[in-house]
Amino acid sequence: RARIDALRRTHIAEYPDFPTPGVLFRDITPLLRDAAALREIIQHWKTLLPEGVEYIVGTEARGFVLGAPLAYEIGAGFIPVRKAGKLPGRPAALRYDLEYGSAEIEIPENSLPAGARTLLVDDLLATGGTAAATLELTRRFGVEVLGATFLLELAGLGGREQLPDVPLSAVWTIEN
Ligand code: PRP
Ligand code: MG
Repeated sequence: RARIDALRRTHIAEYPDFPTPGVLFRDITPLLRDAAALREIIQHWKTLLPEGVEYIVGTEARGFVLGAPLAYEIGAGFIPVRKAGKLPGRPAALRYDLEYGSAEIEIPENSLPAGARTLLVDDLLATGGTAAATLELTRRFGVEVLGATFLLELAGLGGREQLPDVPLSAVWTIEN
């Protein structure tokens, strides 16, 4: 556990005032580029996940990079939640509010069967806006959400309160 905690300090880079003043940006590139550390984190993360997940749902872009190896490891499928305008056919779409402006996400048509047991994966739980929107959109498919899991939870930003009805886990939880 001390080893896992140490990896946050060595493998998550911090950039003050990006993308806007006052925001401390967390960059997962140092973790992604280190083969041994990436394997260690994915193997540890696996142990935090609920049993019986059929589909991991990951949010573009960083939820793809981390969600796909987790899905592979637990023998689940992977469903990409994309930023709007990238998907053919008739994707399910949801527009949601951000601190400034709004964003829109989409899930491929016919991708999630009703009753499927899903797990949301993303790199970061900050305000919870992205995760709450993603869960709302997946629930339109009539799925059973088993949980949501994050590499890093910034507990001070209240993301957890936006997701009151799902079991949450995180590899690392820090105040902010
Ligand atoms: C970041 C991060 C999470 C989200 C967390 O994604 O990867 O998805 O913000 O913030 P929230 O809890 O306040 O919603 P971003 O939209 O910056 O894009 P990216 O994943 O494409 O880099
Ligand atoms: Mg993201």
